[in-house]
Amino acid sequence: MDRVDEARRPPAGRRFRIQYCLGSGGFGDVYRATMIGSGGVETDVALKMLHNALKKDGRSVRRLRDEGRMLGALNHPSILHIHDLVVLSGRVALVTEYVPGEDLSRCLNQMPESVALEVLARVADALSTAWAARSPDGEPLSLIHRDIKPSNIRMGRHGQVKVLDFGIAKAHNVERESHTAANSVVGSFLYMAPERFDNRGDTPASDVFSMGCILYEALAGQRLYAKMSAKSLYLLAMSDENHANHTAESLDSLQGVAPEVMALLRQMLSYEEEERPPVETLAHRLDDLAEGGTSVRKWAKRRDWPEDDEIDGELAGRVMSEHSVPIRSGTLESQTTEDTGVVTMVAVSVGSAIAALVAVAFVAWMWMG
Ligand SMILES: Nc1ncnc2c1ncn2[C@@H]1O[C@H](COP(=O)(O)OP(=O)(O)OP(=O)(O)O)[C@@H](O)[C@H]1O
Ligand SMILES: [Mg+2]
Repeated sequence: MDRVDEARRPPAGRRFRIQYCLGSGGFGDVYRATMIGSGGVETDVALKMLHNALKKDGRSVRRLRDEGRMLGALNHPSILHIHDLVVLSGRVALVTEYVPGEDLSRCLNQMPESVALEVLARVADALSTAWAARSPDGEPLSLIHRDIKPSNIRMGRHGQVKVLDFGIAKAHNVERESHTAANSVVGSFLYMAPERFDNRGDTPASDVFSMGCILYEALAGQRLYAKMSAKSLYLLAMSDENHANHTAESLDSLQGVAPEVMALLRQMLSYEEEERPPVETLAHRLDDLAEGGTSVRKWAKRRDWPEDDEIDGELAGRVMSEHSVPIRSGTLESQTTEDTGVVTMVAVSVGSAIAALVAVAFVAWMWMG
């Protein structure tokens, strides 16, 4: 090993004992693992091994790492705690706390209305905190999620509600388009605000719309856009009138929902971003509506939680050592110019990247019939 490599090597790398795969999505595979620190402390973690398309020294990774640091610094109970970003076997991996429990997508239809309202109140609180956070020098961070959906909300066995994949959507929106086979891309369409289909809007209002889709699903027992193809979703998003009609018809079909809950839901699902409730006040409104019913904590305590699906993954059973994310010599700027291909596209414009994602996934969807 030459002197440069020696210098790059972490002083005493952590090791990861990989147990099993928890699942795969548009960004990569998630493993449950034990992190063994240099002092011998063992911590239960989740390892999100990001797709190889991501250059480990590219701008996208730095963006992810920076956002991870900011999110880590927020220390919010409903924002997944990020330990670090590491490179394992040449792949970038996000190390986060492991949350024993189940995805909201698997238990949304089994929870009382008050529990669903409280879950969404916690999500809104997390989104609002991330949006309002400021850097140490006072600059607004304006962090938004962009991919709020039930499979990105994890319910913990002790009643924790954790928003997953914060920051990843932004850093990865270009890489994701090369994984159109992933149902998760299509899955995200089902919760996507209309303005995101044609690259309008980059505010928490779009996440508020996605939360409205989840609230509808909790109340109706089925998705707002059940059985709709990506093509028809796109066409619906392009017409404010058709969109409003679809929402009104869906809401009319709801039975036995309190008028105050209906009013908030209607607002959250508004076509126009300005008509949706501001994320800053949403948590309070949802909390007020949940009051008096079963709490998330009580529901979680009484629930019979299933074990994780232990999926065989290529890394299961392995012990891997950490290598620090290598930063080549030179400034961030000189490194940026070395970034090529899809990573550079992220750098050029996050907005156009979202448009590219939508366009490519849409074309792929049409192509597949
Ligand atoms: N920190 C964690 N603790 C426990 N389970 C987790 C953790 N992070 C992710 N998971 C689980 O791993 C599985 C795969 O997650 P992943 O985000 O890759 O897939 P997804 O949410 O279905 O798709 P997408 O890539 O579109 O977000 C999900 O069931 C998710 O809940
Ligand atoms: Mg996810």
